[in-house]
Amino acid sequence: MSTINRGAFPHRHLLGIEGLSADEITMLLDLSDGYVEQNRQKDKKRSVLRGLTVINVFFETSTRTRTSFELAGKRLGADVINISPDASAIKKGETLIDTAMTLNAMHPDVLTVRHADSGAVHLLSEKVACAVINAGDGSHEHPTQALLDALTIRRRLGRLHGLTVAICGDILHSRVARSNIHLLNTMGARVRVVAPPTLLPMHIERLGVEVFNDMREGIADCDIVMMLRLQTERMQGSFVPSTREYFHFFGLDAGKLSAARPDALIMHPGPMNRGVEIDSLVADDISRSLIHEQVEMGVAVRMACLDLLTRDALANEYESEAETRQ
Ligand code: CP
Repeated sequence: MSTINRGAFPHRHLLGIEGLSADEITMLLDLSDGYVEQNRQKDKKRSVLRGLTVINVFFETSTRTRTSFELAGKRLGADVINISPDASAIKKGETLIDTAMTLNAMHPDVLTVRHADSGAVHLLSEKVACAVINAGDGSHEHPTQALLDALTIRRRLGRLHGLTVAICGDILHSRVARSNIHLLNTMGARVRVVAPPTLLPMHIERLGVEVFNDMREGIADCDIVMMLRLQTERMQGSFVPSTREYFHFFGLDAGKLSAARPDALIMHPGPMNRGVEIDSLVADDISRSLIHEQVEMGVAVRMACLDLLTRDALANEYESEAETRQ
């Protein structure tokens, strides 16, 4: 049983991976490990968050993140409310800040927020009295995705340090790529990004990654091949000649995967666009694809984040077993 020290995680919010230390990331992953085991039992419920209120505010669509935050909150005993733009006053023109202040007046304990604009979740966090978790802001960060990816890798390979991870596809628009680059670098992995020049941010190498424009070269000798979808909802104009051509050069199929290590593992945060960035034969290869494991880890990681951020910051030693908080 690991010991969790809230005082060693001196953050009120989880807005990004950038700025977290290796110890803080390890603490979240260790806490998540316990929740993986809980989620595999028949009785998945605990009362760690009994009496607390979690509001999920998703200004952008989501299947995995929204559902897993809802499950996470409910499995820990919180009251969980979901808000989407289509069913709220946002549709009537209310601003982000007014929406935040309105929700704040209802005394939530945690707001999990997804927004199309980079920085919007940070702005909102300055207006409310509760903890805020970034569930993805524009092309900036998606911290719980990087944590669940790290947990998936760590449980499969036993470590993050020293691994080589190739992140392939639309790096330019990807908050998943940014959060993963920060996390993997912090944890001592080697990170490559593989994409056509049009889908790479300027000066991306300053984030401490190796840059490749050729899939076979980029994934050679990698332990992990992490594929990303084309984020067409963030594109203004054309970034690839056609999806067919994109798949030909950058889609992961068995042919290109043969350039990687024979035991290289495949990841994708979802949603996948089959036949665009990944071929079905590769995505569904249960001997190498971790895609469903990633989804499972997502619930555990979000339970750990809700648990840690709602612990009394002034208290010190807690046991990671949920029951000790009841
Ligand atoms: N990976 C991810 O964020 O998926 P959703 O958009 O379904 O939440």
